[in-house]
Amino acid sequence: PAEQQQAKQRIHALLEQHNAVLVTHYYVDGPLQDLARETGGCVGDSLEMARFGAAHPASTLLVAGVRFMGETAKILSPDKRVLMPDGDATCSLDLGCPADAFSAFCDAHPDRTVVVYANTSAAVKARADWVVTSSIGEQIVAHLHARGEKILWAPDRHLGHYIQQQTGADMLLWNGACVVHDEFKASELAALKRELPQAAVLVHPEAPAAVAALADVVGSTTQLIAAIDRYPTDTFIVASDRGILYEMGARHPDKRFLPAPTAGQGAACKSCAMCPWMAMNSLAGIEQALRHGHGEITLDAALAQAARQPIERMLQFAA
Ligand code: 13P
Ligand code: SF4
Repeated sequence: PAEQQQAKQRIHALLEQHNAVLVTHYYVDGPLQDLARETGGCVGDSLEMARFGAAHPASTLLVAGVRFMGETAKILSPDKRVLMPDGDATCSLDLGCPADAFSAFCDAHPDRTVVVYANTSAAVKARADWVVTSSIGEQIVAHLHARGEKILWAPDRHLGHYIQQQTGADMLLWNGACVVHDEFKASELAALKRELPQAAVLVHPEAPAAVAALADVVGSTTQLIAAIDRYPTDTFIVASDRGILYEMGARHPDKRFLPAPTAGQGAACKSCAMCPWMAMNSLAGIEQALRHGHGEITLDAALAQAARQPIERMLQFAA
């Protein structure tokens, strides 16, 4: 629509005016993903967002995603201004892992290496030995397991369980879950697979184990998108936030991408499998953030410094 086009043009001009770049996640609205690409920004999974923001020469990073992504950008680039379209865009994993309780959990298990998922607050990261994202968690835990280390893992129990299964590591798991991925249902997915035996099933590892067990591919958002080329089928069932279907459809207009069933609902449910916090990102929010400096991420310098070390460890491992 013309209005959307005008908003995109105004944002493009504001990005130039403020020496800013857009760093977006695959779960935000399609037009925001398009705008990031059109203006030389990034659309990626959380590891790619972290790397892109840290490496880019812009003095302002406009992070369209959820709060932990903005915080990670700020931790890695303390001298850059980091803005977010909506400061209330959080994540159920972050909310379900308060720093005090987590710190007490760590204190109770001092013999374990603390590995936390990127979907956590800066304060939780500051308590960790390693931060990992879904794209690299399995490799890092395998590496630590090979060194004989026992792991304390937080917060996503499904991702932790999946990594434990894959690596055989000794992992003590925090009991957190993603409100979006936890909703995918294995029995309904199995029924859909019987209806569509030619379909390949792509699953994000935040989904329950019984759902991951039905997958052809388990991986981060970027890994799921990349996997499409490896399957000679025209139908995919995707157990991840619906936002990812935008990029999948744009890259493969000849293929069909169906959301995996949630809580008894099929593809007809339009609000299922949609992260409510990712949905808070809008073109209007981006424009306001750039125009008025709204939604700036600020962190205590000592806390940010402490949180930086386990993130840097991951980035060095990934390099
Ligand atoms: P990715 O690292 O795969 O992008 O996942 C982040 C996330 O929040 C998934 O729900
Ligand atoms: Fe958090 Fe789940 Fe939303 Fe990802 S989809 S940001 S894990 S609540």
